[in-house]
Amino acid sequence: MQIIETKEELRRQVEACKRQGKMIGLVPTMGALHQGHASLVRRAVSENDVCFVSVFVNPTQFNNKEDLAKYPRNLQRDAELLDSLGAHFMFAPTPEEMYSAEEMNTTFAYDFEGLDKVMEGKMRPGHFNGVVQVVSRLFYLVQPNRAYFGEKDYQQLAIIHQMAERSALKDTFGDLKIIGCPIVRQADGLALSSRNERLSDKEKKIATNIYRILSESVKSVKSAKSASVEAVQQEVIDAINAIEGLEVEYYEIVDQSTLLPAKDFSHAIGCVTVYCGPVRLIDNIKY
Ligand code: PAF
Repeated sequence: MQIIETKEELRRQVEACKRQGKMIGLVPTMGALHQGHASLVRRAVSENDVCFVSVFVNPTQFNNKEDLAKYPRNLQRDAELLDSLGAHFMFAPTPEEMYSAEEMNTTFAYDFEGLDKVMEGKMRPGHFNGVVQVVSRLFYLVQPNRAYFGEKDYQQLAIIHQMAERSALKDTFGDLKIIGCPIVRQADGLALSSRNERLSDKEKKIATNIYRILSESVKSVKSAKSASVEAVQQEVIDAINAIEGLEVEYYEIVDQSTLLPAKDFSHAIGCVTVYCGPVRLIDNIKY
């Protein structure tokens, strides 16, 4: 696997792939890679001729400086994992290589068609502007045929679908297909996340209650068809908050496409953000 640090070298490699008619798969990441990322990379390697993985802790999507500083980084370990998975290129630029000083300090303007007004977008103003800024830049640079994202960040995936398939930018991405991949969980249900590295062993155990409660909620909705969305939403919040060490920031049951509050459970997904100690965890489940 080749490690690329500059946009210029990246462009050279992409042009060479395009000249040879190769299909390009891209997996954008912020590093601290785990088996969830590995599942995306395996899929990108198997479905394309070449697989590029970007490893870049994108400063413009963090609205909390402490969160950015504490984000786990381990480039050496990431490179070894990607190499073992058969990725062909790892693109690991510095922030200065990715952005000019001006780009770093101004909010990227983008029309989200309202998808940023709920859940993560409401809690982390500007977060998705930064995500779209970096992901659109990666799409321009790598010109992938397919790009792979995890379903754990469900709202992010919905926004990237909108950008690549419906927005004014879409024509510049060619025939790009966005591929959402299932959440990878530990045997005890905890969704894999780079943030789990910041949990103590005790907190890791406590955090397994999140998925347990989400799964129980889906089961009980399926057996008791009359429950209202609002009541189920509140039940989940109360059940998670009743566990010592967990505190819900939001739990919203929304339509899987519009992300607006669901009227019933037919096309609904429940998205949760929970603080486990100081660590903010997200998860979701389809009803
Ligand atoms: O999901 C992530 O890790 C990041 O938001 C992404 C898509 C790599 C953009 O920085």
